[in-house]
Amino acid sequence: MMEITISKAKKRDFAYIQEKIKNYLLDPTDIDWRDFFVARLKKKVVAFGRIIDRGDSFEIASLGVDYYHRKEGIGKKMLIFLIQESRRQDVQKPIYGITHVSGFVSSCGFEWIKDNYPAYLDQKRKNVCHLDQSRISIVKWKGELV
Ligand SMILES: CC(C)(COP(=O)(O)OP(=O)(O)OC[C@H]1O[C@@H](n2cnc3c(N)ncnc32)[C@H](O)[C@@H]1OP(=O)(O)O)[C@@H](O)C(=O)NCCC(=O)NCCS
Repeated sequence: MMEITISKAKKRDFAYIQEKIKNYLLDPTDIDWRDFFVARLKKKVVAFGRIIDRGDSFEIASLGVDYYHRKEGIGKKMLIFLIQESRRQDVQKPIYGITHVSGFVSSCGFEWIKDNYPAYLDQKRKNVCHLDQSRISIVKWKGELV
């Protein structure tokens, strides 16, 4: 079994994260390296993602897995970690995200929602202009891990 460790990103990880965000066409808005967590495999960063504290809610964003390590369960580990970390910070706050890979996020307990979500998500969806808007879903964590 691969030994993956997840921890807060260090400032020196930021160049890697920024480069991958660009390559994978991930959400580059309001980037602050201190919001990021990284997954390491033998000390090498293989995945990253961030938690943005939006006041009344958390947003999980900019999650990516190294191209050569996809479909190995690393993305799911990272997303579960980010959910647990959000809950550790505040168990009451709902957790949202926007995604074009609903199959991936639903495997961690997120569901598609069509109304009653915070306005920042609409704005964000509009910013992800490289994708057909109809492919982008706003998702909310259901409150349990699947
Ligand atoms: C999307 C991404 C993060 C998935 O990471 P990964 O490490 O390959 O995913 P995992 O191996 O942990 O897969 C977890 C589950 O999601 C499913 N899944 C993974 N990628 C998927 C995809 N593109 N479409 C549908 N389902 C997918 C897997 O089948 C698996 O399901 P299971 O738990 O039922 O077996 C990765 O492909 C990536 O970095 N893509 C580019 C960046 C991106 O699109 N990020 C947005 C994420 S919301």
